[in-house]
Amino acid sequence: MSRPTKALINLEALRHNCRLANELSPQSQTMAVIKANAYGHGAVQVARALEDLVPAFGVACMEEALELRDAGIETPIHLLEGAFSDDEIRIAAEKNFSLAIVNHEQKKAILNACSNKQLTSNNPLRVWLCADTGMHRLGLQPDEILSSYNELIASNGVANEIVIATHFACADDLENDFTSDQLRRLNLGLGKAKSLLNLPLSLANSAALLGWPETRAAWNRPGILLFGSSPFTVPHPEADRLLPVMTLKSAVIALRDIPVGDTVGYTAGWRAKQPTRIATVAVGYGDGYPLQAPSGTPVLIHGQRCPIVGRVSMDMITIDVTGLPNISMGDEVILWGEGLSVNEIAGCAGTISYELLTRMPRRTPRVYSPS
Ligand SMILES: Cc1ncc(COP(=O)(O)O)c(C=O)c1O
Repeated sequence: MSRPTKALINLEALRHNCRLANELSPQSQTMAVIKANAYGHGAVQVARALEDLVPAFGVACMEEALELRDAGIETPIHLLEGAFSDDEIRIAAEKNFSLAIVNHEQKKAILNACSNKQLTSNNPLRVWLCADTGMHRLGLQPDEILSSYNELIASNGVANEIVIATHFACADDLENDFTSDQLRRLNLGLGKAKSLLNLPLSLANSAALLGWPETRAAWNRPGILLFGSSPFTVPHPEADRLLPVMTLKSAVIALRDIPVGDTVGYTAGWRAKQPTRIATVAVGYGDGYPLQAPSGTPVLIHGQRCPIVGRVSMDMITIDVTGLPNISMGDEVILWGEGLSVNEIAGCAGTISYELLTRMPRRTPRVYSPS
C-alpha cells in the first residue's frame, strides 16, 4: 500500500473547460496556456489531452516547449516571454515555436538572425509583437508596434502573419475600468494600422475571455480556466460552468480523543475548548498544501466540511472530526477539488489558486483519469 496522498487529474473536466473556452469565442483560436507544468497538472499529459481541441499551446520558456516536443507533441507552441538568446531563436525556427517579442533587444536579435541568415529552417519564424498597454511588465509601447511590424515584415525570415498581443492587469475585477483603459491605449497606439493591416490580435487571458467579451480576438490565451478555477472572486455565469480538474486527496492515518485544554501540533498553537476527536491526515506543505492555511480551513470528509486545527506540518495536518461519529482510519479526505474549490482554500491561506496549483511538488503523484 502506498501513501494515500494523490492529485487526481480529471482529463474529461479539462476538455470540458477547454470546449467552453472555444464555445465562448467561436470566431477565435484558443492558445491553451500550459506553462509551469500546466499549472501543476503535468504539461505533457495535459497537452496530449487537449491536442485535438486547440491549434497552439503557450509556455513561458524554451525548456517547457522542448519538453512538449520531446514527448511527441506536434502542435505549434508559443513562447510567451520570447527568446532569451540567439540559440533559442534558431531552435524556435527549427521546432516550429513562435516567439513573443517583448522588448527591443529581442526584436533586434530576430532581425539580426534574419539578416545573417542564421535561420536555416525552411519555415519562416513566427513572431508575436507584445504591446505594453499599462501593465508595465513586458512589451513595446503601443505606438512603436507599427514601425516594428514593418521592420519585421521587411526582413527575410519572419512569417507574414504577425500577431499583436497585450496582457491585462485587472481583468479578474469586473468593476475595474483598467481593462477598458488598456484596450483604449492599444487602439490609440495602433491607430489606423489596425484597420489598414487587419492585424490579428491576442488580448484575452481567462478572466478577459470569460468576463470581457470585447477582448475576444483572433487568439485568446486562457490558462487558469482550463484547470477549472474561476479567475473571479464573485459568482459568474460562465466561470461557474467550469469543472475542477485537480482533486487533492489523502486519508486519515491516526485518530485520537483529547481533553479540554490540550493543544495540537507545532507551536502548541491550538487548544481544545471541549473534548475533541482529532484525525491526522497524511498531507502537508511537502505535498503542496499551504503552510499558511489557518485553523478553521475546511477539508471534506464523508462529504462534510471539517476544520483544520493547529499548524500544517510538512507531511500532516490535524482535523477536528468531533462531529463525525463514524470516522475511521483510512477514510478519504479531500483537500480541494470536487466539492471544495481550490479558490476557497487559497483564500483561507492568503494566496491565489494559481500559486497552490503551480507549486504542487513532485512528491505528490498525479493520477490521471481516464488514464
Ligand atoms: C502572457 C500571458 N497570457 C496568458 C496567460 C494566462 O493567464 P490566465 O491563467 O489568467 O488565463 C498568462 C498567465 O500568466 C500570461 O502570462
